[in-house]
Amino acid sequence: MHASDFEEIASLDEFGSTDRLEVFIDDTPVLLILLNDQVFAIEDACTHDGQPLTNGCIEAGAIICPRHGARFDLATGKALCMPATKPIQTFEVEVRDRKVFVRSGN
Ligand code: FES
Repeated sequence: MHASDFEEIASLDEFGSTDRLEVFIDDTPVLLILLNDQVFAIEDACTHDGQPLTNGCIEAGAIICPRHGARFDLATGKALCMPATKPIQTFEVEVRDRKVFVRSGN
C-alpha cells in the first residue's frame, strides 16, 4: 500500500450506540470518535505516560486522559493542558457511503 493511501477501517454502523471504536492502523492503536456526525481518528496513547485514551471523556472537542487528566484536541492532537506537553498523533478521516476511511502513513 502507498504510504499515504486512505484505508477503509470501519463503518458508521459499527458505532451502534457508542461514540467510539478501537482499531489498528499499521500496528498503531487508534481510537475513532464520532462527535456531532464527524469522525475523528487519534492515536490511542497518551503522550504523558502511554495510558490508553480509550475510555476518556469527551468535552468541548477534546478527549481527557482517564489517568491524570491531560486533554487533547480531537482535531489537531494538541495537548491542551498538563501533565501532557506533546501532541498525540491524529489521522485524516473521510466518510463515504457510511464507510470510514483513514489516511495511514505520513
Ligand atoms: S497518562 Fe495521560 S495524563 Fe498521565
